[in-house]
Amino acid sequence: MSEARTWIEADLIVSGAGELLTCARIGTDPGARSALGMIPGGAVAAREGRIVWVGPGDDLREEVRLLRGGQTVDADGRVVMPCLVECHAHVAYAGDRSDEFQLRVAGASYQEVAAAGGGIMSTVHATRSASSEILRALSRKRLDHFLHFGVTTVETKSGYGLLPDQELRILEVYRDVAAEHPVDVLPTLLAAHVVPLEYLDDPDDYVKMVVKKMIPAAAKHKLARFCDAFCEQGAFTVDQCRRVLEAGADHGLLPKLHADQLSYTGGTEMAAALGAVSVDHLDHVSEAGISALAARDGGKRVPVAVLLPGATFFLGEGGYAPARHLLESGARVALSTDLNPGSSPTANLWLMASMGCSQLHMSAEEVIRAITIEAAAALAVDDEVGSLEVGKKADILIVDETRHAEIPYRYGMNPVWRVFKEGKLVVERDLLGEV
Ligand code: NIG
Ligand code: FE
Repeated sequence: MSEARTWIEADLIVSGAGELLTCARIGTDPGARSALGMIPGGAVAAREGRIVWVGPGDDLREEVRLLRGGQTVDADGRVVMPCLVECHAHVAYAGDRSDEFQLRVAGASYQEVAAAGGGIMSTVHATRSASSEILRALSRKRLDHFLHFGVTTVETKSGYGLLPDQELRILEVYRDVAAEHPVDVLPTLLAAHVVPLEYLDDPDDYVKMVVKKMIPAAAKHKLARFCDAFCEQGAFTVDQCRRVLEAGADHGLLPKLHADQLSYTGGTEMAAALGAVSVDHLDHVSEAGISALAARDGGKRVPVAVLLPGATFFLGEGGYAPARHLLESGARVALSTDLNPGSSPTANLWLMASMGCSQLHMSAEEVIRAITIEAAAALAVDDEVGSLEVGKKADILIVDETRHAEIPYRYGMNPVWRVFKEGKLVVERDLLGEV
C-alpha cells in the first residue's frame, strides 16, 4: 500500500534563492537579535496571499504542490526576503522646504528656522491650503516611491493640519488612498506636532483640545491606529505629551513618541513607562532612557527604539543615536526614513540601512532586521508582516543581490527586483544599466 501523502498546496512559489532570509521573530533573547534565519538555496510558498511553507529548496518538491494556474518564480540565486516595513513617516503634506534647506546649509539651525516662522509651521500653511485631491495625489506618489523600494507596510502620521478639521482631513486622505493602494497604510494621529499659531498664547489649551476633541474624533471614526507627539523644546513638554498619549490609549490608540531628537527631554522614560509601542529618534537619549528600552521578559510592553539616521544626516548637526549601546543593552532597534519635508525628504529605506552600518555601527544582519521584523514590532504588526513565516502575509521581496552583506554595502541604490504583496506581483524592475 502506498503511503498517503499530505501536500501543501500553493498558488505562488518563489524558489532558487541564493539566500532566503526569513527574519523570523526570535523572542527577547538579545543574543539572537542579529539572526536573519538564513536558508541558503531556500524557497517560500504562498496560497491566497498567505505564506504556507518556507524551507530548503531541496524539500520543496517533496512537500509543496503548485495549484493549477499558480506561478513559480525562479529567483536565480538572488536574495529572497520579507518586504520592508516603514515604521515612521509623514506622508501627507504639501509644498517643500528646499529654500529652508539652503538656509540651514548656510548655518541656521533647524530650531532657528522654526522660530523664525519656517519649519513645521510653513508646511502646515501649505498643507492647510492644499485641496484633499492634491493631498491624495501627493500621498499616492510617496506610497508609490516606498513600494518601488520594496516597502509594503507604511506607518504615516498626520501633523501638518493642527486644527480638528484639518487633522481629520489628513487622516481621511490616508483612509481614501489606502483603499486603493497595494501598500498597507497604518495611520497615526500626530496632532501634538507643534503648537499652531492659533494657540501660541496658551499651548495647554491646545493640548486640552487634542485630548478632548481630536483624539475622540479620530478614534470614533477609526481613522488612526496610533497616537504620537513631538516631545521637544519648541514643541511639547514631557507632561503635555503624557496627557496626549494617555488620552490616546484611553481611546484605543497605541502610543508612540518623537523623543530626545534635538535635545534630551526625558520623553523616552515617560513613553516607556506608558508602554508605548515605539520611541523614535533618540539621538540624545539618556542612560535611564536606554535602560527603559532594554528588553525584559513578560510584563508590560517595552517600546522598540526607532532610529532615524536620515534626519540626523540631513540636519547635518551630528549626534547620531547610540545604536550599539541600545542593542547591547538589549533594546530592539528598528530603522526608518522619517519621510517628511523638513528633516528627511526621502523614501529610501535601504539608504537608512546603509547609514545604520556606516554611522550607527550596526551589522548587516542588524540593519536588515531593523527594516523588516523590528520595524513591524514598532507597529505591533510583527504577527502579520516583517518575516517569512507560515501564516503571515505573503509580502515577499526578491532583491538583485546574491548575498545579504551586499544590501547595505551598495548605498543609495535600489536593489529591488520583484515585489509580491500578499502573493501578487506589484513591482517588476528591469535593473539593466544599474551599477
Ligand atoms: O520626525 N521631529 C518632528 N517631526 C519631523 C520633522 C517634521 C518637519 O520638519 O516637517 C521629524 O523629524
Ligand atoms: Fe517624525
